[in-house]
Amino acid sequence: MISMRINANGKKGTISRYLYGQFAEHLGRCVYEGLWVGEDSPIPNTEGIRDDVLEALRKLRIPVLRWPGGCFADEYHWMDGIGPASERPRMINNHWGGVEENNHFGTHEFLRLCELLGAEPYISGNVGSGTVREMQMWVEYITFDGESPMANLRRRNGRQEPWRLPFFGVGNENWGCGGHMRPEYYADLYRHYQTYVRHYGGNKVYKIACGANSDDYRWTEVLMREAGRFMDGLSLHYYTLPTGNWHGVKGSATAFGAKEWFQTLKHTLRMEELIVRHSGIMDRYDPEGRVGLIIDEWGAWYDVEPGTNPGFLYQQNTLRDALIAGINLNLFHNYSRRVKMANIAQMVNVLQAMVLTEGEKMLLTPTYHVFDMYKVHQDAELLEVAFESPAYTMDGVSIPQLSVSASVDAQGVIHLSLCNLHHAEGAALSCELDGSGARSVSGKVLTHAALNAHNTFEKPDEVAPADFKGAAFADGKLRIELPPASVVVLALA
Ligand code: AHR
Repeated sequence: MISMRINANGKKGTISRYLYGQFAEHLGRCVYEGLWVGEDSPIPNTEGIRDDVLEALRKLRIPVLRWPGGCFADEYHWMDGIGPASERPRMINNHWGGVEENNHFGTHEFLRLCELLGAEPYISGNVGSGTVREMQMWVEYITFDGESPMANLRRRNGRQEPWRLPFFGVGNENWGCGGHMRPEYYADLYRHYQTYVRHYGGNKVYKIACGANSDDYRWTEVLMREAGRFMDGLSLHYYTLPTGNWHGVKGSATAFGAKEWFQTLKHTLRMEELIVRHSGIMDRYDPEGRVGLIIDEWGAWYDVEPGTNPGFLYQQNTLRDALIAGINLNLFHNYSRRVKMANIAQMVNVLQAMVLTEGEKMLLTPTYHVFDMYKVHQDAELLEVAFESPAYTMDGVSIPQLSVSASVDAQGVIHLSLCNLHHAEGAALSCELDGSGARSVSGKVLTHAALNAHNTFEKPDEVAPADFKGAAFADGKLRIELPPASVVVLALA
C-alpha cells in the first residue's frame, strides 16, 4: 500500500489555465479540413469553421490558441491572408509537404475561431523571413483603435473594433527552421523586433521569445542574460519520441508493446528534468519568477500513419497518449511557479491531436479525454502532495510508477489526478487529507485492456472515460485502487 498525504492548507500558487493551451499550425490537415472547411462546404460550419470540431473543442475550455506555426510562422506573411479570399495569393507550404497554401484562413478567420472557442489568441510572428515593419503592422492591424493605415485597412476588411491580442511570439524555433540562428544573434534580433510590438490602447501584449530546443541550456542562458528584461515569456519545445531518434524510425503510434510503452513514458518524463534545469537558469537571472517558461510545443511525435503524406504529421492516438498527456499536465501543475503556459502540438489531425477528422466524420482521441478530465485544475490552487512512488522497472531501468498532482478550486473541491504508468500492475494507495473535511469522492477513469487501444471512425468510443469505482473513504482515509495503465481524476468534497 502506497501512503500519500495531501495538505489542503499547503497551497502552492495558482495553476494557470494557460497550461491547457493548444497549437494549430498550417500543417497537413490541422487548419484546412480539420478546423476550416469554408462557408460553401457541405460540412456544417459557422463562417467556414466546422461545427462538430468547434463543439467538441469548446467543451475543453481552451484558454489560449497558438497560430499560425510552428515552422510555418517564419515563412508566413500575414498580409497574404487578409481581404477577399479569392484575391489572396497562393503560396507553397515549404515546410509541410510543399502543398499549396491558399491563404483562405488568415488573421480574421483565426481571431474569429478564437472568439467562437472562447480562447485567447497567441500569434507567432515572422522573424526568420519577415521584417520588423511587417511585425509592427500586424500588431497595429489587430489592436489599434484610432486612425492609422493598418487600423483603417482592418476596417476596410470588415472589422471595425480592434481585437485583443494578449500573447505574441517573436519568431519560432529560430535555432532551427526559423533561421538557424545562434542564440547571441537571435537575442539581438529579439530585442530589436519586440521593440515594435506595441501595446495599443488597453491591449497589453505578453511578449514571448523563442526558447530552447529541449536540452539546449546555453540558449536559455544567453537569452536570459542578453534579453531577459525585454521578455515576458521564454519558450521551450520538447517532443516525446518512442525511440528518441529524430533521424530514423521514431516509432509507430499504434503498433507497439510493453517495451515501447515503457520507453515512451520514460522519454516523456524527461520533461521534468528540462523544466527544472531551464527554470534553474531562469532563476539566476530572474529570481522573482517574472518571466514565464512557455512550453508552447509538446506532445508525442510518431511515424506518420502508413499511406499518409509524411509532411502532414498525421498520427493515431492511443491509451499511451492519454498517459503522456496526464503525466505532462501533472508536471506543468507541479512546476507552475515558472511554467505559465503550455500548448500541446497540435489541436486537430496533427501529432498528438485532440480530434481526428475524415471528411465529415470526427472522433475524440484519448488525449482529448484527458484534457477534458483535467480541466478542473485550470486556475485552481496547487496543493502539496507527499508520497513516494514505487519504481516501474523494465530491463533494469526504473521510472516512477505514479504521476500525481492535486489542486483545490474556488468552491473548495479538491481534485486529484493520478496516472499509473505500469502497463500490467495496479497500485493501491492510502491517502490522508490534512486540513480538509472532504468525505465524499467521485471520479473518472480512462483505461483499457489493450495498451494500444484507440478510437477509430468505426469505433469512436473504444477509449472513453468511465465512472471510477476504485476510490472510497474508510477510517478517515481515502483508499484508491488504480488499474494498470490508467489516468484517473478524483473530486473530493
Ligand atoms: O509541431 C510541428 C513542428 O515542430 C513545428 O512547426 C515546429 O515548430 C516544430 O519543430
